[in-house]
Amino acid sequence: MMLQNCLNDTHLFSPSEYTAALLLYIRKHAVRVRSSRALDMGTGSGVMMATLLAMGAQSALGVELEALAVQAAQKLLIQEGLQAKASLVQGDMWAACGDERFDFVVTNLPQFAANHVEGDGRLPSWSAGGTDGRRTVDVFLNGLGQHLAPGGLAVMTHNVFLDVNKTQSMLDPLGLQTRVAFCASAPLPAHKIACLSQQVLARFMGQGIHKMGGYWFVDFDIIEISWKQQEDRKA
Ligand SMILES: C[S@@+](CC[C@H](N)C(=O)[O-])C[C@H]1O[C@@H](n2cnc3c(N)ncnc32)[C@H](O)[C@@H]1O
Repeated sequence: MMLQNCLNDTHLFSPSEYTAALLLYIRKHAVRVRSSRALDMGTGSGVMMATLLAMGAQSALGVELEALAVQAAQKLLIQEGLQAKASLVQGDMWAACGDERFDFVVTNLPQFAANHVEGDGRLPSWSAGGTDGRRTVDVFLNGLGQHLAPGGLAVMTHNVFLDVNKTQSMLDPLGLQTRVAFCASAPLPAHKIACLSQQVLARFMGQGIHKMGGYWFVDFDIIEISWKQQEDRKA
């Protein structure tokens, strides 16, 4: 009964502004999606992998830490009749991917600069990314080279305070490169401001974190990650 209540609580995994921005990217890159072996890392509601499959991905794997989210994603895929080419695995990041490689990887990982985010009715694993926001993102980036297919593309949400230069320096030794596809901004609710790292707040206030009256906003990018030498890798 309790489980049913959780699953009926649409807010627990409901898509955010970040999800919506990534979905927009996906919709605008239909050719890239079509026939791809896709991965949705940190699946949540399943809306991203469902969209990829609806747009013609050859297959989609969803990896998700939380059992309840896996159930929510499963429910969505069945509801949309998209389960035939979908696989869902409850697991921790790359450990759940074996030695598989993917043509198209999408992810909206926890990346808020806080050790814990409370008061949003989400699970603790939803958005907290540690003091600098990079706790989960760095694990993702470190493993990406072993799972991105030759000629493949990864697309992710990237909060401004993650610092895209830091991301590029992590990708350099892996032979990968990043580029900002587009920028967006999302409201920053009071419960998140309350737990935001003071260091990050001081560093980015007015430069990615903005305040007008009592309203706060945070800028984020949609970044693409690809192999530096695409042609060599395709060969
Ligand atoms: C910000 S939410 C995004 C969910 C969904 N992709 C969306 O955009 O609506 C991050 C998701 O990543 C999952 N997650 C966090 N750490 C993870 C890990 N180490 N491995 C797999 N999934 C993880 C969380 O449970 C959560 O569902």
